Amino acid sequence: MRTQVAIIGAGPAGLLLGQLLSRAGIDNVILEKRSLDYVLSRIRAGVLEQGTVEMLHEAGVAKRLAQEGLVHDGFALAFRGTLHRIDLKQLSDKTVTIYGQTEVTRDLVEARQALSRPTIYETDDLALHGIDTDSPYVSFRANGQRHELRCDFIAGCDGSHGISRHSVPTGASRSYERTYPFSWLGLLVDRPPASHELVYANHDRGFALCSMRSTQRSRYYIQVPTEDRVENWSDDKFFDELRRRLPADVADGVTTGPSLEKSVAPLRSFVAEPMRFGRLFLAGDAAHIVPPTGAKGLNLAVSDVHYLFDALHRHYRDNSDAGLATYSARALARVWKAVRFSWWMTGLLHHFPDRDGFDWRIQQAEFDYLAHSRAASTALAENYAGLPY
Ligand code: APR
Ligand code: PHB
Repeated sequence: MRTQVAIIGAGPAGLLLGQLLSRAGIDNVILEKRSLDYVLSRIRAGVLEQGTVEMLHEAGVAKRLAQEGLVHDGFALAFRGTLHRIDLKQLSDKTVTIYGQTEVTRDLVEARQALSRPTIYETDDLALHGIDTDSPYVSFRANGQRHELRCDFIAGCDGSHGISRHSVPTGASRSYERTYPFSWLGLLVDRPPASHELVYANHDRGFALCSMRSTQRSRYYIQVPTEDRVENWSDDKFFDELRRRLPADVADGVTTGPSLEKSVAPLRSFVAEPMRFGRLFLAGDAAHIVPPTGAKGLNLAVSDVHYLFDALHRHYRDNSDAGLATYSARALARVWKAVRFSWWMTGLLHHFPDRDGFDWRIQQAEFDYLAHSRAASTALAENYAGLPY
C-alpha cells in the first residue's frame, strides 16, 4: 500500500487533518487502533473556540454544528458563593460554541465516508519505520494480516497513549510535565443545564463545573481526590456534593436525573518537544496534554492541524518545505500559551490539599482582581475564547 500522508489515529486531530488533505487532493490513509463504535462513543469536552468553529467550516463539516451548536457570549466564575461573569463577546470580541467533541468526531467520520477515503480500524502491532529517511513506512496488522503502508509523511495523531511520540529516538525529544493532586469526576445527564452559561466554581470543598451539551443535556464535574473511584459516587451523592459547592441560585437550578455516564479523569499538563522528527509530525494529544479547566484539549488539536495542513499543502502545491520546517515552532508557540492558561485556571479554581492559608489568600486576591479589573478579565477572556493562530 502507498499513500502521501499516513495518519495514525482517528480522533479529532487525525480525522480533521484527513478531511483537509482529502479536500485539497492530497492522498491519505488513517490507521486506528480501536473500532469505529468505540471512537464514536468517547465522551469528552465540548467548548469550541471561534477559531475551531472556523476550521470546521473550512473543512466542510460544520453543517450540524451551525444548526445545533450553542453560541455562548460568556461564562461565570464563582468564588465561595460570589459570581463574576466574564463577557467574552464584550472583552475579546469572540464567542465560544458548545458542541460535544463526540459530535465533532461523528461529523468528521461521516464526511470521510462521504468522500470514500480509507480508514482502517482495529489495527494492531503498529510501528513506524524510517522516519528519519525520505521513505518512511508504517507496518501494522489488520484483519489477521500484516500490512505495510509506504508514504511521504507520517502524522502522529494517536493521542496521549499512542506510539508515535515514542518512535522519536531518546535524546531527540524532551518532555515537560506537571501532575495535579486531584481528579475530576464527570457526570452526564439528560436534564436542562443549571444555568444558560457555564459556571466554574471554587469552593472550600473543591472545584465544581456546570457545563452542558445542549439545552436538554447537562455535563457536571466535581474535583475529587486522585485515588477516588467512580464506584464511590452514587448519582445522589454526586448531586449533593455538586450543589454544596455552587452559589445557592445556581445550585437551585440543578435538576437531577439518572446519569448517562460517570467517569474520573486525572489532571495533567504535558508537552513533548519538538513536534517534528524527520518525516514524523505530531499533532494533538500525541504531543501535549492540558488539564480540562480551560477546555483547550480539542482546540489545541485543531490549531496543530491548522499549521500541519498548511505545511503539507505548501509542500505539495507550492513545492515549498518552509511550512514543514517551521511547523514545530509555530505549533508549540500556541501550545505553550494554552498550557500556561490551563495551568493558571486550574490553580485559580481548585482546592490544593498540599497548600496552606497563604495560597488560599492568593486565590482570593486573584479572584477579587479579576472581578474588579477589566484588564485582568480581558486577559482571561482572550485566552478562554482562543488566541489567534
Ligand atoms: N495505533 C493507531 N491508533 C492509535 C494508537 C495506535 N498505536 N494509539 C492510539 N490510537 C488512537 C486512539 O484510539 C484514538 O482514537 O488515536 C486516537 C487519538 O485520538 P484522541 O485521543 O482523541 O486525540 P486527538 O485526536 O489528539 O484529540 C485531542 O481529545 O483527548 C482529547 O482532550 C483531548 O479534546 C482533546 C482531543
Ligand atoms: C465539558 O463540557 O465537558 C467541559 C466544559 C468546560 C471545561 C471542561 C469540560 O473547561
